[in-house]
Amino acid sequence: MAKLPLRRALWCGKNFILLDEVDSTNTYLKRGDFPDGTAVIALRQTAGKGRTGRVWTDAQPGQALFLSVLFHSMKAEDMGFLPLLCGLAAANTLGKGAAIKWPNDLLIGEKKVCGILCESRIIGSEISAVCGIGLNLSQTQEYFTENDLPHGTSLYLSCGEKRTVLQAAAMILDELEPMLEQYRREGFAPFMKEYTRRCITVGRQVQVLRAGESLTAKAVGITPDGSLLCEKGGETFPVRAGEASVRGLYGYV
Ligand code: BTN
Repeated sequence: MAKLPLRRALWCGKNFILLDEVDSTNTYLKRGDFPDGTAVIALRQTAGKGRTGRVWTDAQPGQALFLSVLFHSMKAEDMGFLPLLCGLAAANTLGKGAAIKWPNDLLIGEKKVCGILCESRIIGSEISAVCGIGLNLSQTQEYFTENDLPHGTSLYLSCGEKRTVLQAAAMILDELEPMLEQYRREGFAPFMKEYTRRCITVGRQVQVLRAGESLTAKAVGITPDGSLLCEKGGETFPVRAGEASVRGLYGYV
């Protein structure tokens, strides 16, 4: 039975499931009844899900990490912060060169290397979160060209670094567990500085697409509730992750 090479995490990934193939690791965790901190990795996904209803493209086994982690006893207000925390945790495993495109795309050299989809599962009064992380490990340029992913890259392509699926997952879980524990004690405030430092969106012109309408504004910061603070014509307004899609005006960022 495969084991995650965890160094720090005690409960995140303690219950670990490795699948050869599944529709989506997020959907798998939402379907069953698993302990807190359960992590599931699939070598292939046949119906991988991206944010805002998009598809998350599959890859050859071992070339990409498809990881989902289950967290019990969440509060409704945590659901806005969880994607940011997961993004920061995953960014920390990718080194100094990794940037966050708000809310939680991870970029290296302005190309997307990792995407995160957090979903909630509500049974009675119990809210659980399923955090899905798709990290491109070793796909080649041909993969991104053939799959029409011009803004995508892999860790190997961008940094020449080789990481197995199990190593990459363990690194993320080792990072995420203490962050989640600190978040539960102190909220998101202690992470704000580091998140903003990594966030490449702040300071750029962005196109905000909300309810079929599009407007151009400047991203000027992150609000205490994790929204993107935008400015247009001297007025500032928050943009919430679930409500709008934010695109850079130049290239992908
Ligand atoms: C995005 O950037 O649109 C989010 C992509 C999230 C992909 C991951 S792969 C593991 C997990 N299972 C899924 O179906 N989606 C997430």
